[in-house]
Amino acid sequence: MDTPPERKLIIAIDGPAGAGKSTIASRLARKLGYTNLESGAMYRALALKAIEWDVSFDDEAALLDLAKKSRIKLEPSLGGNRVLLDGKDVSARIRERDVSEAASRVSVNPKVREWMVDRLRELGTGGGVIMEGRDIGTKVFPDADLKIFLDADPVVREQRRLDQQKIRGPSAEATAAELRERDRRDRTRATSPLVPAPDAVIIDSTNLPEDEVLRRIEELVEQKLTQTRS
Ligand code: DC
Repeated sequence: MDTPPERKLIIAIDGPAGAGKSTIASRLARKLGYTNLESGAMYRALALKAIEWDVSFDDEAALLDLAKKSRIKLEPSLGGNRVLLDGKDVSARIRERDVSEAASRVSVNPKVREWMVDRLRELGTGGGVIMEGRDIGTKVFPDADLKIFLDADPVVREQRRLDQQKIRGPSAEATAAELRERDRRDRTRATSPLVPAPDAVIIDSTNLPEDEVLRRIEELVEQKLTQTRS
């Protein structure tokens, strides 16, 4: 008898900025042959459009309208997701400071979130995906096969972000302060705040090398796959 093809899992990785989600999701995806999807890039693309069209980050109805008119596409690639907004590659632009701040503010609006959650579910249905963000395990895929909440000490996360973006000197403190503010907003917003799902495995990467974080998650994936085979 033929063995059935292995079931493709949905893996959710949530956590604050600078915890290492994107790097881990992209390495894990490569190892498993899965697709990694950065949900934050969708919020960032919409935020960029709001900046370009001069739409207020608090105007929920106008933002929803803008979202419906936008074509936002995530194209997984080896170095992370390539992001197309209305056909234009905005992958680098959406990582800039003004867009980071705008994305966090835009994502507070419940109707914008509802729209995003629907889009993200469409992208993940079928499995074989690692989706990272803030509410993947709690809201987008509450039935995900595996939920990881990746955290780290705030000072360490700030330093990682500054190193990643090669920021030194006077703008370092401003960037760190923005990250703290974004964190506070993401954790305290009324709709889908950043919290671990009750059944998430919490990994604190403060003192863990990246390879060790990856190893632990791979072990959990293997356990899950063994369960689905039996
Ligand atoms: O992961 P990121 O830093 O690219 O996300 C940018 C912003 O988007 C983040 O500050 C909050 C928002 N976001 C969200 O609300 N829910 C998600 N699942 C992903 C991101």
